[in-house]
Amino acid sequence: MLTDNGSDTKADPRARPVRATRRRVLTRLWGLTGWSLLAGSGVLLHRTLTAARPPSRSVSLSPTLLNQVRAEGGLVTGELFLRFAGDELIALRLRCTHLGCTLTFDRGDRVLRCPCHGSHFDLDGNPAVGPAETPLERVALRHDNGTWVAQLDDPLTPR
Ligand code: FES
Repeated sequence: MLTDNGSDTKADPRARPVRATRRRVLTRLWGLTGWSLLAGSGVLLHRTLTAARPPSRSVSLSPTLLNQVRAEGGLVTGELFLRFAGDELIALRLRCTHLGCTLTFDRGDRVLRCPCHGSHFDLDGNPAVGPAETPLERVALRHDNGTWVAQLDDPLTPR
């Protein structure tokens, strides 16, 4: 049996055995409670941060679609406007930078129009007619196993 100072009573018969006093028990319980609260807080913080992050969104751009983009000089697919500038593929988000309305592609005038307050954007995403003053968001593209993928949650330009 161990004593208060950690020595063994069999080795030292004069030593007093350790008693589980109420103070010791409460101190241990208090320590366990503290560690439990700390661990629980960590789990809650992790879950909160994980839930706050929106899921990654990406769109595959098939070779057929890209051929169409090239042939037509620009194309709307979902929330994106796609076009080639030389060999470079450009993806713009069709969200007006004034108040967020969805833009349409005017093929005849070669502009992106906002139906809400009349802003126009050129095909590089620059505002041509206000009230919008900020360029459109350019979406990051990556080449993955022979397919282009637009990464909608990873803008090249700030939102
Ligand atoms: S939301 Fe597009 S011009 Fe206002």
